[in-house]
Amino acid sequence: MRLLHLLLGSTWLLASCVPRRPGAASTGATQQAPGVSAPAPLPPDAPVAIHRVSEIEPPPVAVASEPVPGFMRGINLGNALDAPQEGAWGVTLDEKHFEMAKAAGLDHIRLPVRFSAHAQDEAPYTIEDSFWKRVDWALDQAAARGLSIIIDLHHYEELMKKPAQHADRVVGIWKQVAERYKGRPASVAFELINEPCNELKSALLNPIQKRAIAAIRLTNPTRLIIANSYFWAGADYLKELELPPDPNVIASFHDYQPILFTHQGMPFMPAEFQTRGIVFPGPPAAPVTAVEAGQKLDWVSTWINSYNSQPIATNANGPNAIFDYFKIVEAYIKSSKRRVYLGEFGVSDNADPKSREEWLRVVRKEAEKRKIGWAIWDDGGKFRALNVALGTWVAPIHAGLFE
Ligand code: BGC
Repeated sequence: MRLLHLLLGSTWLLASCVPRRPGAASTGATQQAPGVSAPAPLPPDAPVAIHRVSEIEPPPVAVASEPVPGFMRGINLGNALDAPQEGAWGVTLDEKHFEMAKAAGLDHIRLPVRFSAHAQDEAPYTIEDSFWKRVDWALDQAAARGLSIIIDLHHYEELMKKPAQHADRVVGIWKQVAERYKGRPASVAFELINEPCNELKSALLNPIQKRAIAAIRLTNPTRLIIANSYFWAGADYLKELELPPDPNVIASFHDYQPILFTHQGMPFMPAEFQTRGIVFPGPPAAPVTAVEAGQKLDWVSTWINSYNSQPIATNANGPNAIFDYFKIVEAYIKSSKRRVYLGEFGVSDNADPKSREEWLRVVRKEAEKRKIGWAIWDDGGKFRALNVALGTWVAPIHAGLFE
């Protein structure tokens, strides 16, 4: 059954090779409690899980990462500087984002930035002054609160489609970022390319990341640099990363497994991902019926069958699916001896609050047991963790991260 989980894991990855973009902003909380929104009442027909995660004993940790001080517990401030223009996706960064992160006890911010929308097309690919000022401001906000911050080059979609045409440009962008921020303290880190996908396969990704690292090292000899693996930072692809023997270059993976649960009904996912009402852990009290597009695909119908009928220990949406994913990460730590980082994990608000909380807690704990720093996706949009207007956290996310 473990093998089945692994197979299903890689099959969804193959099947989900689609452009990602955030959905509409969620409505947020309706009540205010100290620091955390009151959980919204579940509708009477809401799906329910019949098992508790605690029924399954996690496997022992075989290999841990070396911790990365200052980058252990964080939040992505997404949907803002990574939108085509800040505000276009409903999030404009505010001092409160940073205040709330600090007050919750986080140590860092991951800042997704779409430099590619603000740089000239031709060399030297000059980045707009007004955009620099927003990034400077975010760095200052983090520094003022003692938060570390990762500048994450996000949503360079053209690079994913035509890597060869955009290689010089992404390196040129990093040259400028490195030059501008070379005087910043070690609490500022650089993340080269978020979620390489589509045509930016490992064979093309590796030389581009090597060039970007070399350009950064000319001005920032010891700055922490984070490199994502191919396939949306899939853990399965960490082993394909080729990185220089530099202790301050670390590898990053993302965890949205199982994707049919975390991304159920997301508008930017293809039709086979639109089955809703999937709870964690499976099996559910009442089986779900896969959407028609899902029924036509073997990997989806196999997954849904397992979800509907297997006991929690072997269920495709059970805790073992998460444990298996971390075993892949362990294998990479063991073979590479490199430090690793979990730059994104999350469940959209299409899933019920209890399931979100349970899943987040399992993933977060598995990371922490292995001394892997994490950053939740994210403050806004469909994965919203913060209600900045009220100054509150969304209850299931807060509980999953901190309880
Ligand atoms: C993407 C977002 C998406 C999230 C979850 C991020 O890397 O930038 O657009 O909502 O992953 O899928």
